[in-house]
Amino acid sequence: MDKNKTKVLMVNGCIRGRESRTWRLAEVFLREMRGIGEGIFDYTQLDLAQMPLKPLTGEFFEERQRFLEKNDRTHPRFDLARQFAQADRILVAAPFWDLSIPAILKLYIENISLDGITFGCNANGMYGMCRARDMLFFTTRGGFYGNGPMEQGARYLKALCEMFGIPEFRCICAEGMDFEPEREEELMAHAVEEAKEAGRVYWC
Ligand SMILES: Cc1cc2nc3c(=O)[nH]c(=O)nc-3n(C[C@H](O)[C@H](O)[C@H](O)COP(=O)(O)O)c2cc1C
Repeated sequence: MDKNKTKVLMVNGCIRGRESRTWRLAEVFLREMRGIGEGIFDYTQLDLAQMPLKPLTGEFFEERQRFLEKNDRTHPRFDLARQFAQADRILVAAPFWDLSIPAILKLYIENISLDGITFGCNANGMYGMCRARDMLFFTTRGGFYGNGPMEQGARYLKALCEMFGIPEFRCICAEGMDFEPEREEELMAHAVEEAKEAGRVYWC
């Protein structure tokens, strides 16, 4: 890793591989931003579906508590949290599942949310410890939710950004993918353009 380069972290929570419409949006963005930013950034992609992420249960949970009690955050199990905290720009791609995000993305979040690495606590409450200036979230949804209360995916990630101290959050999304499958391309078109434009101006 070159210290002078911007560290871009892509957290890929898409499950359906090349079939994923969400990943298609992310790829449109990546193509643009890579072309313009060539040589100025280091890119790391975490394909969550291929990673052995574990939930915080049983001994895995107890071990974490013991490290925190000893104020020891050096163990490799905290590497993902450190990587997230040290990224300059965060990208997340994940479909809308069960009104929010797939469990693999929640598992990842469970593993990176760590007092003393990604956020801290004091008498005034919680404060963020991440250095990223922004999180850009790509998603597609089967139905139409807009900004309504049933939409708990982008809303949740935006709240996490606040907790982690990441000042900017933006969601690029296409809706109605399964509701009106015959209109898929039409419904994707706006988000594809938005993703392209976001890639074009990413380094401005
Ligand atoms: C397990 C599962 C849960 C889903 N839950 C919802 C949901 O709650 N609301 C919705 O509108 N669509 C839901 N969908 C549909 C997806 O949001 C939609 O198909 C999306 O475009 C999938 O993204 P992908 O093509 O990137 O995999 C769900 C799909 C799956 C497979």
